[in-house]
Amino acid sequence: AIERTLSIIKPDAVAKNVIGKIYSRFESNGLKIVAARMRWLSRAEAEGFYAVHRGKPFFNDLVTFMTSGPVMIQVLEGENAIAKNRELMGATDPKKAAPGTIRADFAQSIDANAVHGSDGPDTAKAEIAYFFPEMEVYSGR
Ligand code: CMP
Repeated sequence: AIERTLSIIKPDAVAKNVIGKIYSRFESNGLKIVAARMRWLSRAEAEGFYAVHRGKPFFNDLVTFMTSGPVMIQVLEGENAIAKNRELMGATDPKKAAPGTIRADFAQSIDANAVHGSDGPDTAKAEIAYFFPEMEVYSGR
């Protein structure tokens, strides 16, 4: 089925100037960018976005990292977009990410891991709504 998923290019990858290279991977693998925005998240915004991880040992470092510089946030649309994006990203820990994946090629560490992608249909819906009102998602245009 055609799905939408939320993708974030994290501060490490924005700083490395590889937004275009990562966009190319989405586009050449059938994922269309149907909304996009560059933002420097506040602490409150990052904490809200990652609310499911509140209380985990890595939460504070995660929020600190995600607010360390601007991020590029996009909605990707396509056949099986959620799983497809996760496949393109590779494992959360870049040391475990398969060769040729975004994290294997551009990430340094489990925190500075280049990209975020929604992990299922419910989180995709919530994460897209967190950053984009429905009228700013240009599906099928
Ligand atoms: P992301 O997909 O953005 O979702 C939560 C983030 O927490 C994850 O990518 C990692 O960057 C970060 N993180 C740090 N430590 C861990 C961990 N032990 N397990 C999962 N995520 C972690």
